[in-house]
Amino acid sequence: MMPSVCDPRGQPSAWVARFAPLVARGGAVLDVACGGGRHTRLFHGRGHPVTAVDIDLRGLADLADQPGVTLLQADLEGEVPVDLGGAYAGIVVTNYLHRPLLPRLPTLLAAGGVLLYETFAQGNQRHGRPSSPAFLLRTGELLALARDAGLQVVAFEQGEIALPRAAVVQRLAAVRPMPAPDLEGEPEPRPLPHA
Ligand SMILES: C[S@@+](CC[C@H](N)C(=O)[O-])C[C@H]1O[C@@H](n2cnc3c(N)ncnc32)[C@H](O)[C@@H]1O
Repeated sequence: MMPSVCDPRGQPSAWVARFAPLVARGGAVLDVACGGGRHTRLFHGRGHPVTAVDIDLRGLADLADQPGVTLLQADLEGEVPVDLGGAYAGIVVTNYLHRPLLPRLPTLLAAGGVLLYETFAQGNQRHGRPSSPAFLLRTGELLALARDAGLQVVAFEQGEIALPRAAVVQRLAAVRPMPAPDLEGEPEPRPLPHA
């Protein structure tokens, strides 16, 4: 299990908040390893039905009876794959990495669905935890995931940040493409939200 570095009531990730408007209005969102549910709350507040999955749902107790929120308590690292549903308009993963799950995520997206991912990357060990290679993305790993799954990359970053604390991170916003018939099979360009 990845050591927790989350503030359960923390602000949403600026990356997730920036690209949240790419998720189709009213479309279902999956918050993987949701922690205290900061992104469950963000997307629910934007009018999306949200499925929030975590091994420990105590940080979302206040959302238990909230219409439009489905809480799924599950071990994502167990031997039996968890039924996570599918055809999501958005999937968000932050501060969590279980490599065997990575190739599965794009398959859970509907056409036009958006994968928003942000977590720690190699080099973060200089700043503390997580420091195990199992919890740190390799250089370009999210880009490779998008390429291998045929996702359209809207934005990608990797590098060192100073705030909210010094860390090395990698971030991806990518879409399961819907071909645009008038663009010779190229996917429809997506609007770039302001930084
Ligand atoms: C660092 S927190 C990130 C929480 C949230 N994504 C965020 O950024 O605010 C990591 C989360 O992964 C969850 N987690 C760790 N191992 C897990 C497992 N095997 N199955 C499901 N969730 C797990 C923890 O319970 C914790 O909530």
